[in-house]
Amino acid sequence: MSEAARRNTAPDFKALRGRFPVLARKTYLNSGSYCALAGSVRQAINAYMEDRLLVGANWDVWVTKNEAVRAAMARVLRASPEEIAVTASASAGLNALASALDFTGPRNKVVVSDFEFPTNAQIWHAQEPRGARVVHVPRAPDGYIPLEHFAQLIDDATQLVAVTHVCFRNGARLDIPGIVALAHARGARVLLDCYQAVGALSVDVRALDVDFAVGGMLKYLLGTAGIGFLYVRGALIPALLPTNSGWFAQERIAAMDISANRPSPTARRFEAGTPPVVNCYAAAAGLDIILEVGTDAIEARVRELTRRCMRGLERIGWPSVTPAEDARRGPMVAVAARDAAQLFARLMEQDIVTSFRDANIRATIHFYNCEDDIDAFLAAMRRHRDAFHPGTAQSAV
Ligand SMILES: Cc1ncc(COP(=O)(O)O)c(C=O)c1O
Repeated sequence: MSEAARRNTAPDFKALRGRFPVLARKTYLNSGSYCALAGSVRQAINAYMEDRLLVGANWDVWVTKNEAVRAAMARVLRASPEEIAVTASASAGLNALASALDFTGPRNKVVVSDFEFPTNAQIWHAQEPRGARVVHVPRAPDGYIPLEHFAQLIDDATQLVAVTHVCFRNGARLDIPGIVALAHARGARVLLDCYQAVGALSVDVRALDVDFAVGGMLKYLLGTAGIGFLYVRGALIPALLPTNSGWFAQERIAAMDISANRPSPTARRFEAGTPPVVNCYAAAAGLDIILEVGTDAIEARVRELTRRCMRGLERIGWPSVTPAEDARRGPMVAVAARDAAQLFARLMEQDIVTSFRDANIRATIHFYNCEDDIDAFLAAMRRHRDAFHPGTAQSAV
């Protein structure tokens, strides 16, 4: 439970905003790319620097930082710390997991969707020489990927369904409970890439019933690049033996035993080498803020702000391509533009920080944003409407 929930009070979003200095200078709608930096995260990185300057190698403290990240990440995902590997990136977690899967038998199919971030398709395609068959679930003409499309491709040969929670291109949220039910009914497991959701939405791995989840700390988890996580359902760990390994993945790290590979009985077996120490400092401080505010309260605030943005875009006659239904949306509102790169640059000139993918401008929203941020974005979009509106009706997903 978050501190705000324990005190039975709504978080003071205005005061929280004050902890992120960039928000006083810019309209920052870019957390889906890289979060705003909190003063406490900077202080945590400085604390690491102090250790380096004054202590040298402070291994005793460093190990506790890595464990603090594991414990906090478990709380965020509502899992147990034994089910969390602290990795160098989402890709590192995916590779470690892939190395533990066997694709030589009849269950060799991996189902991904057309909404995947490249790494969650490329890494599965990289398993093709090991026997994997990768199939892509396509979009419907309206741009969304309905459950029926998953039902057509998930079958008795499917080992894994590896899907994104929220699409990084258009902000659409997949029906994860529906996909999990389909996959489990056919004996397949589900990996959730929740990088574009975790920290902005409540991602409860037990309630969602996913088998694996990956993500990282530089977006809505308020940390930094160079650190990520892999969740593995506890009951699955003993039978999964990663061949992608290292000394920090061993049961007894300090044993320095070179005679055998003895993986940790916990999800730590999916780790590899020396932890990313400075990133652990930053990630632990970022996760502390998320846990203090609480993911349920954050999700509600993000929903309120994305709704305001979606409705405002409708009003100016430039509707978003992100689904309007709350359940099909996360923290991103995407808008198709005639020249998204140019529009991004124009917005930047006005200190409105967004990002773009394909033909879409992406406004990515966190709890530290406010109504004024959304209104500033809408006003700028209205000013640029004639120059950048794509003209023809875009299919909404
Ligand atoms: C949905 C999603 N998955 C995976 C990644 C890549 O993560 P990493 O660079 O940590 O491997 C990103 C990065 O933007 C992402 O948005």
